[in-house]
Amino acid sequence: MNKLLVIGSLNMDMVIHVPSIPRAGETLMGTLHGYIPGGKGANQAIAGGRMGPGTAMIGLVGRDQFGERLLDGLKEAGVDAYGVSVCPEPTGQAVISVSADGENSIIVLPGANERCDVSYIKDHEAQIAQSRVVLLQMEIPHPAVFEAIRLAKKHGCTVVLNTAPAPESLPDEVYPMLDYLCPNETELSRLSGLPVNDPAQAETAARALLDRGAAAVLATLGKNGALLVNREGALRVPGFSVKTVDTTAAGDTFCATFCRRLADGEPIKECIRFANAAAALSVTRPGAQSSIPTLEETAAFLRAQEV
Ligand code: RIB
Repeated sequence: MNKLLVIGSLNMDMVIHVPSIPRAGETLMGTLHGYIPGGKGANQAIAGGRMGPGTAMIGLVGRDQFGERLLDGLKEAGVDAYGVSVCPEPTGQAVISVSADGENSIIVLPGANERCDVSYIKDHEAQIAQSRVVLLQMEIPHPAVFEAIRLAKKHGCTVVLNTAPAPESLPDEVYPMLDYLCPNETELSRLSGLPVNDPAQAETAARALLDRGAAAVLATLGKNGALLVNREGALRVPGFSVKTVDTTAAGDTFCATFCRRLADGEPIKECIRFANAAAALSVTRPGAQSSIPTLEETAAFLRAQEV
């Protein structure tokens, strides 16, 4: 039995440091920070693996050095990579600009991730059936995401969808299959069609998504922490104030840490607090998978906050 199954993308990130995020039509000089393993799916699998045993992943890489590095990283983090296949297309890549204040902009070349299609998901139904929590994002073909959600629901898994990168919309029939819908502020605004500039507006927007059938919305609100809204009410869990170096993979770290704690049966508020702490630690370090903390580091960070 997998405690957490992550279905999604694996990318090699080319990370470039720039003085500011380039505007349309602007040319900037940058410096290459390096090639760092990433991809929203793989980042979430690594975060799950670093939070304890029992995480598996489904996805695809190419038959190349980037694919090998990504597979090695999963294994090092204790992730069961049996569901990650090697295919003829090149491994997915991302070009990431990171500004001096830690913000980023990302361009993804999907490559092998495009092969994570509906038939690939159907071929992995047995692995989905053996999972307590299934976590997905939107960086593989969307019909495959929706098929995976359908199969996970059919087998009684807890289904968590992180709506990154932001889709224009989700099909109506998907919402009732979601136990947790996890957007950031931009994604929440786009999906609900409502403004999200503060926690009160976020709650209103989240309620609009509950009306479409989602059981709960867990939104990340940047400096305002995280907001859980379900039919019983709303709960805001404050974040932690840290020095931001690079926000890449903070959302991935949050979602996977939340799911991994949830799979252990922790109380929801504790799951969110732990996820906030892991995400805070991740922004203090550069890169995607290079920034994701372990269980021990996150627990130590929380202890330090209490004194
Ligand atoms: O969420 C961060 C990730 O988005 C990066 O690692 C990049 O590969 C893109 O998928």
